[in-house]
Amino acid sequence: MSESAEPSLAAQASSTAEAARSVAGGLFVTFEGGDGAGKSTQADLLATWLEAQGYEVVRTRDPGGTPLGSAVRALLLHGDHVDQRAEALLYAADRAQNLAEVVRPALARGAVVVQDRYIDSSLAYQGAGRPLPSSEIRELNEWATEGLWPQLTVLLDVSPDLAARRRASAGQQADRLEREAAEFHHRVREGFLALAAAEPDRFLVLDAAQEVKELHTQILSRIATYLAA
Ligand SMILES: Nc1ncnc2c1ncn2[C@@H]1O[C@H](COP(=O)(O)OP(=O)(O)OP(=O)(O)O)[C@@H](O)[C@H]1O
Ligand SMILES: [Mg+2]
Repeated sequence: MSESAEPSLAAQASSTAEAARSVAGGLFVTFEGGDGAGKSTQADLLATWLEAQGYEVVRTRDPGGTPLGSAVRALLLHGDHVDQRAEALLYAADRAQNLAEVVRPALARGAVVVQDRYIDSSLAYQGAGRPLPSSEIRELNEWATEGLWPQLTVLLDVSPDLAARRRASAGQQADRLEREAAEFHHRVREGFLALAAAEPDRFLVLDAAQEVKELHTQILSRIATYLAA
């Protein structure tokens, strides 16, 4: 027994030595911006780059990062009319579950969590049309997440026109509702910019009209400041 245990301990030690690079306390990065801003594109590029550098990366999204979250996402995005308070609670419930199941364990291991959307989306979208006070949305979400905010939030700032053109060139036709919603998207954009202005240290605001590669380069130069060991 003890003889066979030795090689396996040695193998364990060597696999620990080769284990992924980690960040003390983990690194939580979120991507924000309107629909079609390029969040998933940049989040995927960042995750791929980090993995190539040897970091453990956990790629997740809000809503829908867990099985419970996927069910909540389906209810929110495809269900019948959802009362605004029920909607706010469902988004917060999804976040609470994703943090408990995915984000916190990953950060505890020293991984980098790269996530599409977070509380800022609730604040920006809520402020854009629904009459619930944003202070209440913030309190609800801070309760749900026990006040865990990302170290870095990349805001891909996009004009509603450009986002609509991107959706069109990706083959998605603008329907009547989307065209009517231009004013709504404008208010969402202003909401995101106001959040970024209030927390300049957490936010990196980029003009999403730039090329994919250019944006990626700017994100990497900011990320480097969190990885310097
Ligand atoms: N910088 C860019 N320049 C031109 N096209 C881009 C750029 N970034 C992304 N795109 C394209 O725009 C479309 C939307 O990009 P993406 O899915 O990354 O956006 P998103 O913000 O994740 O959207 P959603 O809110 O719908 O999840 C895709 O077809 C993508 O290839
Ligand atoms: Mg996306």
